[in-house]
Amino acid sequence: MPPGTGIRDKVWQRLVVEEMGHLSQPGFAVMIGSRVEGCSAPWLVRVGAVDCRPTAATLRSAAVPGAIIVVEGVDAGFAAEVRTDGVRVVSRNSHVAARLNGAAEHLVPLAQWNQFVSDLCEQPLPLGITKAAYNPAAELGDALRECPGSYILKPRYGSNGVGVVRIVSHADGSLTAESDCPDTALYLEEFPHDPRQRGRDVIAAAATHRPRFVDRASAGLPEWAMGLSILEEEIRQDRADGSLFEPRIVVQRMKTDSGETFAIIGAICKRIDTSVGASVARDFREEPLDVSLGRFLRPRVPSADLTDWVRRVRNEIFAAGERVRDVVVPLVEARGARIHQFGIDCRLCWNQAEHRVAFPFLEFQFGIGRIDQTALDTSLVGYQTGEQLRSRFGPETG
Ligand SMILES: Nc1ncnc2c1ncn2[C@@H]1O[C@H](COP(=O)(O)OP(=O)(O)O)[C@@H](O)[C@H]1O
Ligand SMILES: [Mg+2]
Repeated sequence: MPPGTGIRDKVWQRLVVEEMGHLSQPGFAVMIGSRVEGCSAPWLVRVGAVDCRPTAATLRSAAVPGAIIVVEGVDAGFAAEVRTDGVRVVSRNSHVAARLNGAAEHLVPLAQWNQFVSDLCEQPLPLGITKAAYNPAAELGDALRECPGSYILKPRYGSNGVGVVRIVSHADGSLTAESDCPDTALYLEEFPHDPRQRGRDVIAAAATHRPRFVDRASAGLPEWAMGLSILEEEIRQDRADGSLFEPRIVVQRMKTDSGETFAIIGAICKRIDTSVGASVARDFREEPLDVSLGRFLRPRVPSADLTDWVRRVRNEIFAAGERVRDVVVPLVEARGARIHQFGIDCRLCWNQAEHRVAFPFLEFQFGIGRIDQTALDTSLVGYQTGEQLRSRFGPETG
């Protein structure tokens, strides 16, 4: 990662919020091109069989009396105890048992251990298990087919909705992609997909063909970052009046008697009506947070309690924002970046079981491009434009 760019990296942001621990967020995976390189939560991976050849040398040299060897456990693979008179192998795997004279337990004389390992590794070891893995480096299509659900794939460097794609992995093994971003949607629609691939080729194109469909004049995505993505679980869409709501807490540099500080000057709320909810640039509205909270809560709480609910949830959002600011500002400074204003973006969700509002974290927005006038007038006290802030506090970097 080039120095100074970390704070704009969505993976960096997610790692920071994960470490902080008090703001919920979706599971995420790091993508390079169309490969998943690592993820935050264990994914369930179906392992049909493993090729043991790469481990043959290790298995051979492990035959030292006292050693215990376990390959995926007694049920799926085998376990072995190395003794002075041989290696006691225990397995309920038929492939292993076949090499133990058909027995579930067998003593392999030490002199025959190397031969046993060679026989065992000659063919893939059938496992037939589903297990949790943190790092299932895998092709996007393979990884998602194992985990039906709805995901958001987006460029790792902020693009304001450009190139953001919702991928759905269906129970029947097919994959589909859709986008609110007109350039992206058109490209995916016209992509000459092979029906036999069942969507694998389309979603790989969404991750790897960005240079072909992103309008580089407006997206502001650095060229070197074009193929880097973050894949996230989709945060649920809980709508009201047809819209979903994304609050943005605005943090701004301020002068104090003793120097400078970052203050929370208020919050506004993005109101989005599009299908994916990741609309580009001007394709959404902004309201004062209280107005959005009222809209969101009205169909969900008793009307007599509405004002109370709005106040309580607003206070929770601000309290969360303060804790985030206290952690993030020093981290941004430690990375050598100097910024004067940023937004903490989240999305309003309704937790039906616990009858409460949740607001999972979406992203830090460094550089707030636009704020609608009505939201600005009533909700942000002392707001200054980027230009005003730069003339007061000097240039922004990083
Ligand atoms: N994990 C997610 N679940 C649901 N929607 C998401 C998710 N991540 C992003 N989105 C939608 O996509 C929009 C853009 O994503 P965001 O992370 O803000 O990136 P950027 O603004 O840089 O494009 C968000 O405002 C939100 O509507
Ligand atoms: Mg955004």
